[in-house]
Amino acid sequence: MHDQEPIEVVTGRSVAFAVPDINDDDVDAVTQVLRSGWITSGSQCVALEEELAAYLGVAHVVSLSSATAALETAVAFLSLPRGAKIGVPTWTFVSTAILAVHHGLLPVLLDVDPDTLNVSPASLERALGDGVAAMTGVHFAGVPFGKEIHELCASAGIPLIEDCAHSMGARDHRGMAAGQATSGACFSFYATKNLTSGEGGALATDNDDLARFARSFRLHGLSADA
Ligand SMILES: Cc1ncc(COP(=O)(O)O)c(C=O)c1O
Repeated sequence: MHDQEPIEVVTGRSVAFAVPDINDDDVDAVTQVLRSGWITSGSQCVALEEELAAYLGVAHVVSLSSATAALETAVAFLSLPRGAKIGVPTWTFVSTAILAVHHGLLPVLLDVDPDTLNVSPASLERALGDGVAAMTGVHFAGVPFGKEIHELCASAGIPLIEDCAHSMGARDHRGMAAGQATSGACFSFYATKNLTSGEGGALATDNDDLARFARSFRLHGLSADA
Protein backbone atom coordinates (compact mmCIF):
# COMPACT_ATOMS: atom_id res chain seq x y z
CA MET A 1 0.00 0.00 0.00
CA HIS A 2 1.28 3.47 -0.88
CA ASP A 3 0.96 6.19 1.69
CA GLN A 4 -1.65 8.60 0.47
CA GLU A 5 -1.79 12.32 1.07
CA PRO A 6 -4.92 13.13 3.05
CA ILE A 7 -7.48 14.76 0.77
CA GLU A 8 -8.43 18.24 1.82
CA VAL A 9 -12.20 18.57 1.69
CA VAL A 10 -13.21 22.11 0.79
CA THR A 11 -16.79 23.00 1.48
CA GLY A 12 -18.81 26.06 0.62
CA ARG A 13 -17.08 26.53 -2.75
CA SER A 14 -18.02 24.92 -6.03
CA VAL A 15 -17.28 25.28 -9.72
CA ALA A 16 -20.38 26.35 -11.63
CA PHE A 17 -21.54 23.72 -14.14
CA ALA A 18 -23.18 26.19 -16.49
CA VAL A 19 -23.92 29.85 -15.97
CA PRO A 20 -26.34 30.86 -18.70
CA ASP A 21 -26.74 34.50 -19.61
CA ILE A 22 -30.53 34.87 -19.48
CA ASN A 23 -32.03 38.35 -19.60
CA ASP A 24 -35.59 39.71 -19.33
CA ASP A 25 -36.08 39.54 -23.12
CA ASP A 26 -35.31 35.80 -23.00
CA VAL A 27 -37.78 35.29 -20.15
CA ASP A 28 -40.45 37.31 -22.03
CA ALA A 29 -39.88 35.27 -25.21
CA VAL A 30 -40.28 31.98 -23.33
CA THR A 31 -43.37 33.29 -21.51
CA GLN A 32 -44.89 34.25 -24.85
CA VAL A 33 -44.36 30.71 -26.15
CA LEU A 34 -45.82 29.17 -22.99
CA ARG A 35 -48.90 31.39 -23.22
CA SER A 36 -49.32 30.69 -26.94
CA GLY A 37 -50.48 27.13 -26.28
CA TRP A 38 -47.94 25.81 -28.80
CA ILE A 39 -45.10 24.38 -26.74
CA THR A 40 -43.62 21.87 -29.20
CA SER A 41 -41.78 22.63 -32.48
CA GLY A 42 -43.67 25.50 -34.04
CA SER A 43 -43.18 28.95 -35.48
CA GLN A 44 -40.33 29.79 -33.07
CA CYS A 45 -38.38 26.74 -34.30
CA VAL A 46 -38.94 27.81 -37.91
CA ALA A 47 -37.74 31.33 -37.05
CA LEU A 48 -34.64 29.88 -35.37
CA GLU A 49 -33.91 27.69 -38.41
CA GLU A 50 -34.19 30.64 -40.78
CA GLU A 51 -32.10 33.02 -38.66
CA LEU A 52 -29.43 30.42 -38.06
CA ALA A 53 -29.22 29.49 -41.76
CA ALA A 54 -28.72 33.17 -42.62
CA TYR A 55 -26.11 33.61 -39.84
CA LEU A 56 -24.17 30.50 -40.84
CA GLY A 57 -24.54 31.09 -44.58
CA VAL A 58 -26.02 27.66 -45.36
CA ALA A 59 -29.10 26.73 -47.32
CA HIS A 60 -30.79 24.70 -44.56
CA VAL A 61 -30.95 24.40 -40.80
CA VAL A 62 -33.12 21.67 -39.30
CA SER A 63 -33.81 21.98 -35.57
CA LEU A 64 -33.53 18.79 -33.54
CA SER A 65 -33.71 17.76 -29.89
CA SER A 66 -29.90 17.67 -29.42
CA ALA A 67 -26.56 17.58 -31.22
CA THR A 68 -26.60 13.84 -30.64
CA ALA A 69 -29.86 13.65 -32.64
CA ALA A 70 -28.26 15.79 -35.37
CA LEU A 71 -25.20 13.51 -35.50
CA GLU A 72 -27.42 10.41 -35.62
CA THR A 73 -29.45 11.97 -38.45
CA ALA A 74 -26.33 12.81 -40.45
CA VAL A 75 -25.01 9.27 -40.03
CA ALA A 76 -28.37 7.66 -40.88
CA PHE A 77 -28.44 9.66 -44.13
CA LEU A 78 -25.12 8.10 -45.20
CA SER A 79 -26.60 4.55 -45.08
CA LEU A 80 -23.20 3.01 -44.43
CA PRO A 81 -23.14 -0.80 -44.33
CA ARG A 82 -23.08 -2.45 -40.89
CA GLY A 83 -19.53 -2.85 -39.64
CA ALA A 84 -18.17 0.05 -41.70
CA LYS A 85 -15.45 2.03 -39.93
CA ILE A 86 -16.04 5.65 -38.97
CA GLY A 87 -13.22 7.85 -37.65
CA VAL A 88 -13.91 9.80 -34.45
CA PRO A 89 -11.51 11.86 -32.33
CA THR A 90 -10.18 10.45 -29.07
CA TRP A 91 -10.86 13.79 -27.38
CA THR A 92 -14.58 14.56 -27.47
CA PHE A 93 -17.88 13.95 -25.71
CA VAL A 94 -19.11 10.33 -25.86
CA SER A 95 -21.97 11.03 -28.26
CA THR A 96 -19.53 11.61 -31.15
CA ALA A 97 -18.57 7.92 -30.92
CA ILE A 98 -21.77 6.38 -29.59
CA LEU A 99 -23.71 7.41 -32.69
CA ALA A 100 -21.52 5.05 -34.70
CA VAL A 101 -22.36 2.19 -32.37
CA HIS A 102 -26.11 2.91 -32.67
CA HIS A 103 -25.79 2.50 -36.43
CA GLY A 104 -23.83 -0.77 -36.29
CA LEU A 105 -20.63 1.01 -37.31
CA LEU A 106 -17.16 0.58 -35.86
CA PRO A 107 -15.74 3.77 -34.31
CA VAL A 108 -12.03 4.11 -35.05
CA LEU A 109 -10.36 6.47 -32.56
CA LEU A 110 -8.17 9.13 -34.14
CA ASP A 111 -5.48 10.91 -32.12
CA VAL A 112 -5.75 14.63 -31.64
CA ASP A 113 -3.13 17.33 -31.93
CA PRO A 114 -2.10 18.30 -28.37
CA ASP A 115 -2.09 22.01 -29.26
CA THR A 116 -5.53 22.31 -30.89
CA LEU A 117 -7.21 19.21 -29.40
CA ASN A 118 -8.54 18.57 -32.92
CA VAL A 119 -8.00 15.44 -35.03
CA SER A 120 -4.46 15.31 -36.35
CA PRO A 121 -4.09 14.94 -40.13
CA ALA A 122 -1.44 12.22 -39.63
CA SER A 123 -3.85 10.15 -37.60
CA LEU A 124 -6.59 10.58 -40.23
CA GLU A 125 -4.15 9.55 -42.96
CA ARG A 126 -3.38 6.33 -41.06
CA ALA A 127 -7.09 5.63 -40.61
CA LEU A 128 -7.76 6.20 -44.31
CA GLY A 129 -5.12 3.56 -45.03
CA ASP A 130 -7.04 1.33 -42.63
CA GLY A 131 -10.28 1.77 -44.60
CA VAL A 132 -12.42 4.26 -42.66
CA ALA A 133 -15.59 4.90 -44.67
CA ALA A 134 -16.54 8.23 -43.04
CA MET A 135 -15.30 10.56 -40.37
CA THR A 136 -16.79 12.79 -37.69
CA GLY A 137 -14.57 15.73 -36.78
CA VAL A 138 -15.11 17.94 -33.73
CA HIS A 139 -14.35 21.66 -33.87
CA PHE A 140 -13.12 21.44 -30.30
CA ALA A 141 -13.88 24.29 -27.87
CA GLY A 142 -14.56 26.71 -30.72
CA VAL A 143 -11.32 25.94 -32.59
CA PRO A 144 -12.23 24.61 -36.05
CA PHE A 145 -10.22 21.66 -37.36
CA GLY A 146 -8.08 22.65 -40.34
CA LYS A 147 -8.48 22.66 -44.10
CA GLU A 148 -6.20 19.62 -44.31
CA ILE A 149 -8.87 17.39 -42.71
CA HIS A 150 -11.41 18.54 -45.33
CA GLU A 151 -8.89 17.93 -48.13
CA LEU A 152 -7.91 14.46 -46.89
CA CYS A 153 -11.58 13.39 -46.67
CA ALA A 154 -12.36 14.90 -50.09
CA SER A 155 -9.42 13.23 -51.81
CA ALA A 156 -10.26 9.87 -50.20
CA GLY A 157 -13.92 10.39 -51.21
CA ILE A 158 -15.27 9.84 -47.69
CA PRO A 159 -18.06 11.85 -46.04
CA LEU A 160 -17.05 14.28 -43.29
CA ILE A 161 -19.62 15.06 -40.58
CA GLU A 162 -18.90 18.13 -38.45
CA ASP A 163 -19.56 18.01 -34.72
CA CYS A 164 -20.11 21.72 -34.04
CA ALA A 165 -21.42 21.27 -30.49
CA HIS A 166 -18.80 23.76 -29.23
CA SER A 167 -18.34 25.94 -32.26
CA MET A 168 -21.30 28.23 -32.87
CA GLY A 169 -19.82 31.37 -34.43
CA ALA A 170 -16.39 29.84 -35.15
CA ARG A 171 -14.78 30.63 -38.50
CA ASP A 172 -12.48 28.52 -40.60
CA HIS A 173 -11.16 28.66 -44.19
CA ARG A 174 -14.79 28.57 -45.46
CA GLY A 175 -15.91 31.45 -43.25
CA MET A 176 -18.40 30.21 -40.68
CA ALA A 177 -17.55 26.59 -39.86
CA ALA A 178 -20.90 25.10 -40.63
CA GLY A 179 -21.89 22.47 -43.09
CA GLN A 180 -20.63 23.90 -46.38
CA ALA A 181 -19.29 21.05 -48.55
CA THR A 182 -19.54 18.48 -45.75
CA SER A 183 -22.09 15.87 -44.73
CA GLY A 184 -23.72 18.10 -42.15
CA ALA A 185 -22.79 20.37 -39.23
CA CYS A 186 -24.29 19.36 -35.89
CA PHE A 187 -24.89 22.03 -33.25
CA SER A 188 -25.85 21.69 -29.59
CA PHE A 189 -27.97 24.07 -27.52
CA TYR A 190 -27.29 22.14 -24.30
CA ALA A 191 -26.96 24.09 -21.03
CA THR A 192 -23.16 24.44 -21.21
CA LYS A 193 -22.98 25.60 -24.85
CA ASN A 194 -22.33 29.13 -26.07
CA LEU A 195 -25.87 29.41 -27.47
CA THR A 196 -28.30 27.54 -25.25
CA SER A 197 -31.96 26.72 -24.85
CA GLY A 198 -31.28 24.22 -22.06
CA GLU A 199 -31.54 21.26 -24.45
CA GLY A 200 -31.70 21.25 -28.25
CA GLY A 201 -29.68 20.92 -31.41
CA ALA A 202 -29.61 21.65 -35.12
CA LEU A 203 -28.24 20.25 -38.34
CA ALA A 204 -26.89 22.77 -40.87
CA THR A 205 -26.26 21.81 -44.48
CA ASP A 206 -26.20 22.98 -48.08
CA ASN A 207 -27.35 19.54 -49.21
CA ASP A 208 -31.06 19.63 -50.18
CA ASP A 209 -31.39 15.83 -49.92
CA LEU A 210 -29.87 15.71 -46.42
CA ALA A 211 -32.17 18.53 -45.25
CA ARG A 212 -35.25 16.78 -46.68
CA PHE A 213 -34.17 13.50 -45.05
CA ALA A 214 -33.58 15.23 -41.68
CA ARG A 215 -37.02 16.92 -41.71
CA SER A 216 -38.68 13.54 -42.15
CA PHE A 217 -36.28 11.53 -39.93
CA ARG A 218 -36.92 13.85 -36.95
CA LEU A 219 -40.63 12.96 -37.29
CA HIS A 220 -39.98 9.20 -37.48
CA GLY A 221 -40.52 9.18 -41.24
CA LEU A 222 -43.63 11.38 -41.42
CA SER A 223 -43.41 13.71 -44.42
CA ALA A 224 -45.63 16.52 -43.09
CA ASP A 225 -45.59 18.21 -39.69
CA ALA A 226 -48.50 19.65 -37.71
C1 LIG B 1 -18.27 17.58 -28.77
C2 LIG B 1 -19.68 17.27 -28.39
N1 LIG B 1 -20.45 16.60 -29.27
C3 LIG B 1 -21.74 16.32 -28.99
C4 LIG B 1 -22.32 16.71 -27.80
C5 LIG B 1 -23.73 16.33 -27.53
O1 LIG B 1 -24.57 17.44 -27.45
P1 LIG B 1 -26.09 17.26 -27.00
O2 LIG B 1 -26.11 17.24 -25.51
O3 LIG B 1 -26.82 18.46 -27.57
O4 LIG B 1 -26.58 15.97 -27.58
C6 LIG B 1 -21.56 17.42 -26.86
C7 LIG B 1 -22.18 17.85 -25.60
O5 LIG B 1 -21.58 18.15 -24.61
C8 LIG B 1 -20.20 17.72 -27.16
O6 LIG B 1 -19.45 18.38 -26.29
